[in-house]
Amino acid sequence: MQILHHVDPERCNGDGICADVCPEDVLDIVDGRAVTSADRSGACISCGQCVAVCPRAAISMPALPDDMFPELGGGTLAYEDLYAFLARRRSVRRFRDTPVSRGTVERILDAAATAPMGMPPHSTEVLVFQDPDERAVLLDEVVREYDAMLKGYSTPVGRAMIRLAAGTEQYRTLREHIVDIARRANAQYRRDRTDRYMYHAPVFLLFHADRHAMSYVQNAHLVCHHAMLAAHSLGLGSTIIGLVPPVVDRSKRLRERYGIPDQNKVITSLILGYPRFRYRKPIRRALADVRWK
Ligand SMILES: Cc1cc2nc3c(=O)[nH]c(=O)nc-3n(C[C@H](O)[C@H](O)[C@H](O)COP(=O)(O)O)c2cc1C
Repeated sequence: MQILHHVDPERCNGDGICADVCPEDVLDIVDGRAVTSADRSGACISCGQCVAVCPRAAISMPALPDDMFPELGGGTLAYEDLYAFLARRRSVRRFRDTPVSRGTVERILDAAATAPMGMPPHSTEVLVFQDPDERAVLLDEVVREYDAMLKGYSTPVGRAMIRLAAGTEQYRTLREHIVDIARRANAQYRRDRTDRYMYHAPVFLLFHADRHAMSYVQNAHLVCHHAMLAAHSLGLGSTIIGLVPPVVDRSKRLRERYGIPDQNKVITSLILGYPRFRYRKPIRRALADVRWK
């Protein structure tokens, strides 16, 4: 059996909080002290809740270094403040030329790493694009891919093949939205190199993950969403970009260029930059349906 927890006998008073909070029942209280459970040690998911909850700082886990549990001030937020913050976030697609520093992106990703995941550790990997030349290569490939899609879509046989490959749901999205967006975006790109996919944002984040990891798709979306809120808190604007990840995912050339392993799926992406316009009103929206049982 593996001893997962170091418990300071001077500090532990056997209150059992660590054992109670543990989602996997990996701790027992024996003789008034917390210990790793003999039969449950293999079930530990290393979430660190036992360490975080102990009021006497009596427990640590060698697998989780101390700096994973920093002392942080603040931490509470009134509902009204949170609501106002959330309601003011809009998808920003027009940016100022002001560059976004590496330090700012690092802070955003630090905050994004607080997102929950199916099971620790994080499966999400992030590629940060800042170099305009790299962005030009990527945009060129995106335009080329959507050109190929539009060409296929222009004939009945091509449409049938796309429908077969994409499935009914995705095909409907394609027919109702993506075809029109891609037509306009590619026309604007050809006209004057306007970027209607990543909107000339100073920073582009691409999220990918190993397909073998538990809930890797949801994990990446949560990380991306946390990054979006963190960016908003720092005065940056962002938009989740769904049109680019499938292109990178399918492109052997781009995967090699970016060092994305074969077993990884490219899941989502986010553009970041300082907003050109200020939104003067927040937005209040309702969910599609809420039912109480
Ligand atoms: C999964 C997902 C994919 C998206 N993909 C794109 C995209 O490719 N291009 C784009 O301009 N906006 C994209 N958006 C942004 C939505 O259009 C935007 O969130 C929505 O219109 C609501 O506007 P708001 O975020 O300003 O409230 C995407 C949003 C989500 C959640």
